[in-house]
Amino acid sequence: MVLQWLAAFGLFVSSVSGRLNSSSMAPNSTGFLMKHGFESVLVQPYGEDGFRVRAWPFRPPNGNEISFLYDPPLEGPENGEPHGMSYDIKYNGTGPMVLQNGNTIVKTFSPIADNTSMTRLAFYRTESDGSETLLLNEYSPIKSLNSRYYSWDGPGYEFSAAFSFATDADEQVYGTGTQADGMVNKKGMVIDLINFNTHIPTPVYMSSRGYGFVWNSAAEGQMEFSTLRNRFTSRSTTLVDYAITSAPTGDYDSLQRKLSAMTGRAPQPPAWSLGYLHSKLRYENQSEFIQLAQDFHDYNIPVSMLVIDYQSWAAQGDWGLDPALWPNVSYMSQRVKELTGAEIMASLWPSVSDKSDNYETMQIEGLLAATRSGPGVTDSWNGSYIRNIDSTNPEARAFLWNRLRVNYYQNGIKNFWIDQADGGNLGEAYQNNGQSTYIESIPYPFADVLYHAGTQMSIGKLYPWAHQQAIEEGQRNATGSEMGQPCEYLSLSRSGYIGSQRFCSMIWSGDSTSVWETLANQVAVGLSAAATGWGWWTLDIGMHYLHAGSKACANEMQGASNQTRPCLGVAISILRNHGSRACNTQDAYTCDNEPWSYGQKNTPTIKSYINLRYQLAPYLKAVFSQFHETGRMIMRPLYMDFSQTDPAIAELTRQNANITTQTYMFGPRLLISPVTRPNVTTWEVYLPNTGAGNVTRPWTYWWTNQTYAGGMNVTVPAPLEHLPVFHLGSRADVMSGNVF
Ligand SMILES: *[C@@H]1O[C@H](CO)[C@@H](O)[C@H](O)[C@H]1NC(C)=O
Ligand SMILES: *[C@@H]1O[C@H](CO)[C@@H](O)[C@H](O)[C@H]1NC(C)=O
Ligand SMILES: *[C@@H]1O[C@H](CO)[C@@H](O)[C@H](O)[C@H]1NC(C)=O
Ligand SMILES: *[C@@H]1O[C@H](CO)[C@@H](O)[C@H](O)[C@H]1NC(C)=O
Ligand SMILES: *[C@@H]1O[C@H](CO)[C@@H](O)[C@H](O)[C@H]1NC(C)=O
Ligand SMILES: *[C@@H]1O[C@H](CO)[C@@H](O)[C@H](O)[C@H]1NC(C)=O
Ligand SMILES: *[C@@H]1O[C@H](CO)[C@@H](O)[C@H](O)[C@H]1NC(C)=O
Ligand SMILES: *[C@@H]1O[C@H](CO)[C@@H](O)[C@H](O)[C@H]1NC(C)=O
Ligand SMILES: *[C@@H]1O[C@H](CO)[C@@H](O)[C@H](O)[C@H]1NC(C)=O
Ligand SMILES: *[C@@H]1O[C@H](CO)[C@@H](O)[C@H](O)[C@H]1NC(C)=O
Ligand SMILES: *[C@@H]1O[C@H](CO)[C@@H](O)[C@H](O)[C@H]1NC(C)=O
Ligand SMILES: *[C@@H]1O[C@H](CO)[C@@H](O)[C@H](O)[C@H]1NC(C)=O
Repeated sequence: MVLQWLAAFGLFVSSVSGRLNSSSMAPNSTGFLMKHGFESVLVQPYGEDGFRVRAWPFRPPNGNEISFLYDPPLEGPENGEPHGMSYDIKYNGTGPMVLQNGNTIVKTFSPIADNTSMTRLAFYRTESDGSETLLLNEYSPIKSLNSRYYSWDGPGYEFSAAFSFATDADEQVYGTGTQADGMVNKKGMVIDLINFNTHIPTPVYMSSRGYGFVWNSAAEGQMEFSTLRNRFTSRSTTLVDYAITSAPTGDYDSLQRKLSAMTGRAPQPPAWSLGYLHSKLRYENQSEFIQLAQDFHDYNIPVSMLVIDYQSWAAQGDWGLDPALWPNVSYMSQRVKELTGAEIMASLWPSVSDKSDNYETMQIEGLLAATRSGPGVTDSWNGSYIRNIDSTNPEARAFLWNRLRVNYYQNGIKNFWIDQADGGNLGEAYQNNGQSTYIESIPYPFADVLYHAGTQMSIGKLYPWAHQQAIEEGQRNATGSEMGQPCEYLSLSRSGYIGSQRFCSMIWSGDSTSVWETLANQVAVGLSAAATGWGWWTLDIGMHYLHAGSKACANEMQGASNQTRPCLGVAISILRNHGSRACNTQDAYTCDNEPWSYGQKNTPTIKSYINLRYQLAPYLKAVFSQFHETGRMIMRPLYMDFSQTDPAIAELTRQNANITTQTYMFGPRLLISPVTRPNVTTWEVYLPNTGAGNVTRPWTYWWTNQTYAGGMNVTVPAPLEHLPVFHLGSRADVMSGNVF
């Protein structure tokens, strides 16, 4: 039964039968070191079908460089031997060099027609017929910046590196972290490797040519995917480090398996986290919060987590609730548990003001980030200048956790929301946190921050990741478990980086404005997160509209209709409602977003979606388990399943057509096409051809049981009660999770 199902998707067949016996395909070398003038390039087989390249001018790496890659990878042909810096061939750039690892080959070639200096690298995939397909090669027109370019812009040894690879107009690029740009295919984009609220650029991508790539650098810089050249820049570093792996064209699950073996696999999530997570900007005190639990109880609406948002502390950096407003935290969490069974999550910000009791100790102990100019202040918020905790310092992570443990964890609040920890300042690019219109949009320079691990320029991309690490370490210490084991508790982070999926941590897409276009864009954000390796992704569903982070947003919504589209959340990885619902009032902060706050007419609809989410528990468990075991994605851009079986999908993905940026598979059986326009009663959906020439395998519309063939557009009824969902195979299999 299961095999029959898999066979229906042509690409599963290729991923199973196309996988070579690793031991017979073991790499034929531990790698080569190319010495070439002041430059050294170390090329080593890495994991399954992969290579890792490290390059440096003058000094070799000292071993303390930050890496987001597992060495050895979690899977691969070798028996857990890390490579380190070992190699068995020294190469001076004359004559060809060829190494093979599984299905991938690296060769040297010459940028000059006479072949005198074969110093460039090219990567190929071997096909089942023995032919070789070029995946990626270093860009080398004769008169241009060197494809491996180094420059020294500052006073010290750290250099800037720009590595260029040849590409063509047809290559499609998926992943790159998340940007709120509505694109699934990033071809043509230039993306700054700098974090902001809603902007988590991350240099991991999958190519339509059948390779996956990781630029393993914590530095700020740039990713560029232009017509003839892909270029990666690290603005300040001591080492260039990247990895590549390949899979048969169209077999994205194998690519994710190999990439996640390098960057990390998600643990098993706690079962409760697959339910409904409720959050609002914001509950202000203990009595209000207990009343919230009482209301969930009385309305008989299931809820798995309730969230306490910011400004719940007396001073920034207390990492504890303000006792004036939250007098008895352990009583509160016990009461919430009794009433709802729900976990509680509390917000933490990285900012510390000198009003906090922790400030002096942290300052004395050197646990705060500094600045080149001295004072260390990088932002201001709510009337206080602030410094951020230096989470790149293990002692600072332990300090933070110790406060959280004493103030929250021991009192029953065991989950933490890492907000604003994008790095540098508080992560708002232009706003300066709305303090004054006179200082908004000033093009101030990026915070020139110094951390334990380096400068903002050289390791700034580590910052949010280190926060996820802090909570992970703390929760693991507290529960006596190890990384990789099932999670009991979670963090939620606004940012992340390469391999963030390895933590018990969800990523959300940041503060999104309350307009329909944003809702439409959010789907592509989730799909890019998936291609980057992040599966536990969520957005501020806001039930009615999306999160209105500022009064400006609320004003935008003046006069908007009240039509609710609460349903998208049912079918994203994590169903989490948050927001200060934008209603028709001046003050966005006064509007409620609880399931019962949308009027009597809408409450049953919202309730039925939440109930549906809980009914899908076996399905969710199955897809999250697959994600844990093999990296197989949960939210799935259509190209992952249909680029080989449906030429329209391949072409429409290339164009970033709405069909492919706003419709997706949720696990292997559910196709979701959220309504992204107001006031509709029907919805047109393109149903992909499911493959192997089999246009007759039906899609079934969830709400009517009407079946449709793939490869065509259909229009279905889409009242508020009906999120457009189609399923493949039997409904019983979906409901029981019997889907792999
Ligand atoms: C893989 O190939 C090796 C060498 O040919 C053989 O000994 C081994 O049994 C094979 N493994 C599998 C799982 O087929
Ligand atoms: C470079 O390596 C080749 C092959 O090992 C060797 O023949 C040649 O002499 C070397 N050239 C130099 C300048 O060392
Ligand atoms: C490794 O394998 C490739 C492909 O079979 C071959 O061309 C190359 O010469 C081998 N390299 C070494 C160092 O044995
Ligand atoms: C240069 O090397 C390539 C690949 O090895 C080969 O096809 C080509 O003929 C060589 N050119 C010259 C001028 O030797
Ligand atoms: C708690 O907050 C609610 C909502 O703002 C408010 O009505 C209530 O007076 C507050 N109670 C206490 C004890 O502060
Ligand atoms: C977790 O425990 C280890 C070992 O005791 C300690 O080194 C580390 O600092 C702890 N981490 C945190 C975040 O508390
Ligand atoms: C694609 O979606 C966006 C956002 O919903 C919408 O503005 C645009 O009109 C759509 N384009 C087409 C061709 O339907
Ligand atoms: C929106 O809902 C509110 C509260 O239910 C109601 O007072 C208002 O008239 C509605 N607005 C529109 C445009 O339907
Ligand atoms: C939606 O329908 C309502 C009621 O018919 C109307 O007032 C409103 O302008 C419509 N909204 C949009 C965006 O078309
Ligand atoms: C196509 O799908 C139908 C119905 O699911 C099935 O009976 C048939 O065997 C499939 N044909 C092929 C060639 O896979
Ligand atoms: C559709 O089929 C399912 C069983 O597969 C059933 O539970 C449901 O009631 C049916 N819906 C309609 C509208 O017939
Ligand atoms: C489906 O609809 C889209 C957008 O309206 C259109 O571009 C496409 O040609 C249609 N496809 C088919 C097979 O009718």
